[in-house]
Amino acid sequence: MTAPGPGGTGGTGASVRAMVAESVEDALRAPSVHNTQPWRWRLRGGTVELHADWTRHLTATDPDRRDLLVSCGAALHHLTVALAARGLAVDVTRLPDPENPAHLATVRVTDGRPDTGLGALYPALLRRHTDRRRFAEASPTADELEALAARGRDSGVVVLVLTGAALERLAAVLVESARRQRDVPGYAAELRHWTHRHPGSHDGVVPESVPRHPPVSPAAAPLRDFGHGRLRPVPEPPGAGTTNDGSVALVVLTAGDTPLDSLRAGEAASAILLAATAAGMATTPLSQGLETAQSRRAVRFDVLGVPENPQVVLRVGRPAPGSEPLPPTPRRPLRSVLLSGRG
Ligand SMILES: Cc1cc2nc3c(=O)[nH]c(=O)nc-3n(C[C@H](O)[C@H](O)[C@H](O)COP(=O)(O)O)c2cc1C
Repeated sequence: MTAPGPGGTGGTGASVRAMVAESVEDALRAPSVHNTQPWRWRLRGGTVELHADWTRHLTATDPDRRDLLVSCGAALHHLTVALAARGLAVDVTRLPDPENPAHLATVRVTDGRPDTGLGALYPALLRRHTDRRRFAEASPTADELEALAARGRDSGVVVLVLTGAALERLAAVLVESARRQRDVPGYAAELRHWTHRHPGSHDGVVPESVPRHPPVSPAAAPLRDFGHGRLRPVPEPPGAGTTNDGSVALVVLTAGDTPLDSLRAGEAASAILLAATAAGMATTPLSQGLETAQSRRAVRFDVLGVPENPQVVLRVGRPAPGSEPLPPTPRRPLRSVLLSGRG
């Protein structure tokens, strides 16, 4: 993938088309549930359409399609970051076609000024990975967490920071929700399907991105058990016993609970993940606690006690000392996710 040069609009039609295509290619790096990459794109000159790919919907794991829409929202935000980094201003219309709920957004290059704050996140877009290992014992500071939450709120959502007792309550719900989800018909089959992919499929959760031993700590949010893992755990300091995991959780919530709300939440999640990466932090999106109606209700009322609807949880912390760089996860090439014609 080509890194953008210094910004500046006013390219020729052909160069704008090339920059738009490169930006969509960058957007494919967005995180997605089980790395399903549930998106399709249509490119028409300086216009890009983002469509949901319902064939990649995890019907047992994600019955409400929330994770799918959050994933597509993250890809939409990644696209705007990549376009801004190339000096392009855009106009975004979400869910533009009431007759076609799969058409999630249309992004048009305009003559205006690019958003330099968005463009500054581009190096983080290239570096971000889901990190499921133990994080450092020292948590991010309250100011750092507030700055991340503010990045998310720019997308019009509510963001709550969970530490201390609230984090422990969330961890308890996540344990219970994982137990409950094991009995959901089809959940285990979907997990197996997306963790045992043919290398040529360029998707799914690869064992190299899952630790051999998941982190153990009373406060840390428990992570989804993918049933396989080859990633080397971070080294424990000699003689320290089991080191605590200082990760905290940010919860993205919305006042409504429509597909547009989930799309917006995905954009906010991407903004938080990229800002955290830019600040040198490690991140893990966690959706498991919100995938069954019962545990989502428990997060909303028992853990948070708020009227808004939780859309996705983000685990954030400092990388543990000695953490090795994470391997890149697979992505389908641009040509495999392009839609042609008027559709
Ligand atoms: C909506 C959403 C939900 C996710 N849920 C989880 C989860 O519950 N547990 C987890 O370990 N990773 C979760 N992930 C992370 C994906 O597995 C990850 O993004 C994907 O495998 C690609 O890897 P990457 O983020 O390193 O590029 C989620 C990501 C998204 C966008």
